Amino acid sequence: MARIPGEAIEEVRNHFDIVEVISSYIDLKKAGRNYVGFCPFHSEKKPSFTVSPEKQIFYCFGCQSGGNLFSFVMNMEDCSFPEAVRFLAEKSGINIESVSSTPAEKKELQAREILIKMNSLAQKYFEAMLWKTSKGKKVLHYLLKRGLTEQTIIDFHLGYAGESWQGLTGELLKRGLSLDLAVRGGLVKKSTERYYDYFHDRLIFPIWDSHGRVVGFGGRVLEQGEPKYLNSPESPLFSKSKNLYGLHMAIPYIRRDKEALLVEGYMDVILLHQHGVKDAVALLGTSLTEKQISLLRGRLGKLTLAFDADTGGEIAALRGLELLRNEGCQVLVAQFPEGQDPADFVREHGEENFRREILQKARSLVDYRLYVRKKRHDLTKEEGRVSYWKEARSILSDISETMEREEYLKKIAKEINVSLEVLREDLEKIIWSFSLSQKKVFKESTSQTVSLKELVEKELLSCLFKYPRYLTLLREYEISDEGFTEGPYREIARYLFELDRNGKEIETAAFLSYFSDQEMHKLIIRMALPFQIEEESKVVKIIKGCIRKIKALTWAEERQTLTKSLQSTVNRSEVSVKLQRIHDLKKREEEICRSGEGEDFDG
Ligand code: UTP
Ligand code: MN
Repeated sequence: MARIPGEAIEEVRNHFDIVEVISSYIDLKKAGRNYVGFCPFHSEKKPSFTVSPEKQIFYCFGCQSGGNLFSFVMNMEDCSFPEAVRFLAEKSGINIESVSSTPAEKKELQAREILIKMNSLAQKYFEAMLWKTSKGKKVLHYLLKRGLTEQTIIDFHLGYAGESWQGLTGELLKRGLSLDLAVRGGLVKKSTERYYDYFHDRLIFPIWDSHGRVVGFGGRVLEQGEPKYLNSPESPLFSKSKNLYGLHMAIPYIRRDKEALLVEGYMDVILLHQHGVKDAVALLGTSLTEKQISLLRGRLGKLTLAFDADTGGEIAALRGLELLRNEGCQVLVAQFPEGQDPADFVREHGEENFRREILQKARSLVDYRLYVRKKRHDLTKEEGRVSYWKEARSILSDISETMEREEYLKKIAKEINVSLEVLREDLEKIIWSFSLSQKKVFKESTSQTVSLKELVEKELLSCLFKYPRYLTLLREYEISDEGFTEGPYREIARYLFELDRNGKEIETAAFLSYFSDQEMHKLIIRMALPFQIEEESKVVKIIKGCIRKIKALTWAEERQTLTKSLQSTVNRSEVSVKLQRIHDLKKREEEICRSGEGEDFDG
């Protein structure tokens, strides 16, 4: 894969202030020289996500993620490093495309750009079909009958797909656009002999990404028919599980009030917005995913789920919601009268009633989960009470606050007529065994081995990030990048040497751009963070100590390899050469260790 030239990357990076970019995703507050907020990459109750405007880097003390502008975008937009650079380049109007990619990448990028154009063309086409054709006027009438105002229909750019199977296909063709690409983008379908429109005779809802670009469509049948809603297929631009309908319109309100309302359908969002509930967003016909939750995370104090009764239970069970809860976001579940959805309710009863009867009466997530379980059991029977308690117990074991657990325990004790003490003891047993099993998993997953030499290398690199001028010491002791263990440390060292050779300053945020890997960014940030600012005299000592250790360990490694190889060496003179070398290495190791003795221990 071709690298995007360093200058282009730097130009893009310098164009932006990391604080501004991150603020467009999560809320940041000023704290001293830095900004802090809730980390969007893990769940937390206190903000430990830190952005440094001076260094143009971010770091999370909770989950140890970190990096520069590009790493942040990679994480949030779920994309690769070059994609992140291009994403930002596009926003800034910097043209990196001409110099930045392999022919294949360039083609893919172009394809995406053309698809964006095609989608916006399609949206306009559908809109025109709605307002200008006679069948379209009937669809318009249907929309008005369902309670939408003309302004709403305009604001949401609703459209109609037309009765012809060749309408949009013809439009694309007329403009010389590739129909094969349109097939990839989900606008056109291809049978053996010809191309035809993907959407036909349907009411069209354009779907935007969080930046307001049309990336797909939802199409509703007008009369009877299956499926009721046909959505754009997954394409290079569109993914049902990674978008929320209405998000780009709702974001300003969500940011202002730190609240969001999550509903099921397009119509729900549209009618809620029309009636003044402007923080509503909808799923796109799939169940809620963690990616979708992460679109909202970091900026919410309260999320209310408003689903039809039958799907509500399933959604409320989703683990991703726990993440929100754990970072202090209230998760509530609203309920509707039998057979009604948010669209019906707000249309019939208006905003005020919707807020009072639905939003204010929403139950907490735990309450709702318990309620759903309770309904499934017959609490007049012993058997029903026992199974209800077993299910309730596992719901309660997720709650980390003792006080909160106690509240629910009291309620359940009454419901099933068992003493509070008995329930409490039973619950604690479960929590205890659960936390034991968790610890085990944790231990197993962190048992990666790092060699002693790598630890030393890491310490050395950490010092060099803060005091790059001491790279000269490495030269003095004849350590080059080759002296570092192959892998991340050697790569980091290589670039440090290279920058130094070219007389360039070593600036962490810029340095990160040499690497396209997330893990690498984390590693570098951890090394570059000014945790303990050492006195400079100490730093020299530490560096010298590391150098000695690295040399000694390198020689020890060579010695070991030689010793092993002796077993299979038959040639006598070869054996004696090897033995001599082993002896020399041993001596040098001892010398270098001795030379550092005074320095290592006095300070
Ligand atoms: P609903 O059937 O509740 O749709 O499905 P709705 O928005 O209330 O539509 P109206 O009021 O009948 O016009 C909720 C959502 O589930 C998805 C769509 O995203 C829809 O908005 N869905 C539903 C599908 O993707 N396919 C289907 O066949 C049905
Ligand atoms: Mn509905």
